[in-house]
Amino acid sequence: MYQLLWIVFLLIVTCQANYINQFAVHIKGGREGLNRVLRSTGLINKGQIGSIDDHYFLEIPNRQRRSATHSPEHHALLSNHQDVHWFEQQVHKPRYKRDLIKPNPNADEFNDSLYGAQWYLHGGGRGGFDMNVIPAWQKGYSGRNVVITILDDGIERNHPDLQQNYDPYASYDVNDHDNDPMPRYDPTDENRHGTRCAGEVSAVANNTVCGVGIAFNSKIGGVRMLDGEVYDAVEAASLSFNSTHIDIYSASWGPDDDGRVVDGPGPLAKKAFINGIAKGRQGKGSIYVWASGNGGNAQDSCNCDGYTNSVYTLSISSTSEHGSKPWYLEECSSTLASTYSSGSYSEKQIVTVDLHGRCTETHTGTSASAPLAAGVVALVLEANPSLTWRDVQYITLMTANPKPMVDGNWIVNGMGRKVSTRYGYGLMDASAMVDLAEVWTNVPEQHICEVFASANNIQLDGSKFVGYIDTKACDGLPNNVNHLEHVQVKISLHHKKRGDVIIHIKSPMGTKSLMLPRRPNDRQEGEFKSWPFLSVHFWGENPTGIWTLEIEDAKTYNPHGSTGGVLKSWSIILHGTEKEPVNLKNGTPVVAPVTTVASTTKQTSYTGPPTSPTPVICHSECKGNCTGPKPTECIDCKSVRIGSTGECVKSCDDGYYQNSDLCLNCHDTCKTCSGPTSSECITCPTNRYFTEKHHICVEECLPGYYNVEGNCLRCSKHCKECTEKDQCTACVKNMELFGTKCVRAGSKPHILIPDSMQGIVLALVILCVFLLCFVIMIVFFMYARNKNLFCWSYSYDKLPCSDDGVMPVSKSDYYDEDDISA
Ligand SMILES: *[C@@H]1O[C@H](CO)[C@@H](O)[C@H](O)[C@H]1NC(C)=O
Ligand SMILES: *[C@@H]1O[C@H](CO)[C@@H](O)[C@H](O)[C@H]1NC(C)=O
Ligand SMILES: *[C@@H]1O[C@H](CO)[C@@H](O)[C@H](O)[C@H]1NC(C)=O
Ligand SMILES: *[C@@H]1O[C@H](CO)[C@@H](O)[C@H](O)[C@H]1NC(C)=O
Repeated sequence: MYQLLWIVFLLIVTCQANYINQFAVHIKGGREGLNRVLRSTGLINKGQIGSIDDHYFLEIPNRQRRSATHSPEHHALLSNHQDVHWFEQQVHKPRYKRDLIKPNPNADEFNDSLYGAQWYLHGGGRGGFDMNVIPAWQKGYSGRNVVITILDDGIERNHPDLQQNYDPYASYDVNDHDNDPMPRYDPTDENRHGTRCAGEVSAVANNTVCGVGIAFNSKIGGVRMLDGEVYDAVEAASLSFNSTHIDIYSASWGPDDDGRVVDGPGPLAKKAFINGIAKGRQGKGSIYVWASGNGGNAQDSCNCDGYTNSVYTLSISSTSEHGSKPWYLEECSSTLASTYSSGSYSEKQIVTVDLHGRCTETHTGTSASAPLAAGVVALVLEANPSLTWRDVQYITLMTANPKPMVDGNWIVNGMGRKVSTRYGYGLMDASAMVDLAEVWTNVPEQHICEVFASANNIQLDGSKFVGYIDTKACDGLPNNVNHLEHVQVKISLHHKKRGDVIIHIKSPMGTKSLMLPRRPNDRQEGEFKSWPFLSVHFWGENPTGIWTLEIEDAKTYNPHGSTGGVLKSWSIILHGTEKEPVNLKNGTPVVAPVTTVASTTKQTSYTGPPTSPTPVICHSECKGNCTGPKPTECIDCKSVRIGSTGECVKSCDDGYYQNSDLCLNCHDTCKTCSGPTSSECITCPTNRYFTEKHHICVEECLPGYYNVEGNCLRCSKHCKECTEKDQCTACVKNMELFGTKCVRAGSKPHILIPDSMQGIVLALVILCVFLLCFVIMIVFFMYARNKNLFCWSYSYDKLPCSDDGVMPVSKSDYYDEDDISA
């Protein structure tokens, strides 16, 4: 009984095993050992197994490639061989996915009526480019088993081109709280958007109706959430709807694209994103495909839109048939890649389904781009269902093609990849993406390292602010980052005119990314409150070294522009991996970026700090380390740094004022100053006069001021012009000149002595007083003389006054000698 069971078991095993005519063998004795094994077993060496030392493929000669039984004689020979450490006859492993995916060379022959009009599938872009979707179909991918939902204004689930792929489990009506996402019909068909987007992804193929969806075998649902009041909970409910079932969420909405708003997900929507990333798709993370926005005309930046600016969204932009920038395109550093969409009036638009079972060839905008991208991602997930949300972002950017675009304004990053704020890394390439997905292994764990800048509360004064963060990217800590993914620069800033502010960040490898362009419509005083500006431009770079932040405002780029702001604080948040992220299956070499440029070009674009092998002697004004010998290359300064040039100096020169440890530019009109505005001058240059009270420097004294030794001093009240404080020569309005004074017009005083006469009158008065005094004295003297009050006079006929008088002579002197003798 026992033996019978054993035989049955063996039979089952052997019947199902499907042996291949090869052994994998681990051989001990090196090359000699291998030769000994080959001689004694008669097996043929088919080479080493990958890069695993001492492991070889050994083939059984003259045997079918596959058979139901193993080879007992070779088993015996190998088990007994002293040089064999381990061996195993190889078994064909049925691959579930491969069995399903059959190459389909006919996948460019569909009888759908508008299939031929889908120019973006048929090399209809400039230069014959398209998104290489047909080659991906021909490899057998069409989005099978992938579930996509469109977060929009509903979906016409019974549309003949959608019905077959419609998935009720991926559908919900958040606006009306029921399970039916049917759009609300009105005479203008305003709620056609979601249905059109759904058709781009998943319109059924070969059914003669409309066109073909990019993932024409995928499951499609819709969450109706835009046809009603949108608030945080509505967004959160939509973003987290059935996240175990839905793989891809496609969204083409966000804050108003009027170029004035800075807004992002509320607390619940944030939670929904984080939940989706952590728990969606059985822990591999929901894929959120997001349209970068339609605010191009209003010169909006999607960096001010917290949804596309999020690490968790795959932000997609658009390019036109002719490979140029559509008028609605919004630029920002968080855009990862682009798809085709509408452009100018004469350029072709997107073909898809429409309300009432109809078709359309005129779907437009970036909101047409996100669903095309969602369709491509569906093909990628079919090619490799184990991809995480981060894997999908890697695959997207590593394969994106910048060639179809004519006006990319590309920069080349430290990895040699072209990237742009318009198009991200370029046009999505479905075929290259599925190829890479097939050999992709999951990237290592994500690390996040935040580094704070030491300088805070810096006045922005119209000169360019330059700040530095020198980082080892959490080296030695559990969250060390060596290979970058997303970089966020978290900024708290207040400005009198927020739209004037321009922000750049430069990586240690010299890649300079525009994080905030000028937004002319954002004219109000405003703030960025811990706003995490996102850039994907540094992907793959090593973050260790010096990051440079540059902030400009209107005054920096236009002498008449306004200024006035405070950079309250800033930090950089580095996302990435500690270990090499890209490790392809079977040692497939990593494809060089499509965009690799000649190394000479790469070096010229490399503007990072030089990594000199000889130790540099830092400038004497540096405190601690530096990146080079110049005073601009100090990491910290001993005393102060000139804001606009980054140079360390002992003290701020004329033309600068000190703000914490920075010398910032005075207003052009001041020589020295206490602050950035024109009314904070302390002294003026030689061609200008300092104006008291206002602290401004002027070329000519203002009305009401007079010039004394290069200063403009205030005339007395009501004087419009004067030569001295009280010497008015003209009066302000409603006043008139009366002498050198200004009096209210019409009230010229009659009794008052005119100013010009005052001197004479005064002189007369003084003269009179003098005369009077003189007369009084004369009279007094005459009186005094009469009474001889002071004995000033004597006469011979009078007695001397007294002994203590002033009588200078003896008594005898009064008398003649004759008289005495008489
Ligand atoms: C679509 O149908 C036509 C016949 O109507 C067929 O020749 C073609 O192969 C089909 N395409 C695919 C991809 O199945
Ligand atoms: C989510 O999808 C599953 C199927 O995967 C389904 O059973 C479930 O009902 C769905 N949940 C909702 C709320 O639709
Ligand atoms: C279109 O292709 C489908 C699938 O092959 C086929 O069933 C149908 O008859 C074709 N229709 C036309 C009009 O060719
Ligand atoms: C200064 O920086 C260089 C290059 O980053 C480094 O090799 C050196 O050890 C540093 N010196 C000090 C004193 O930190």
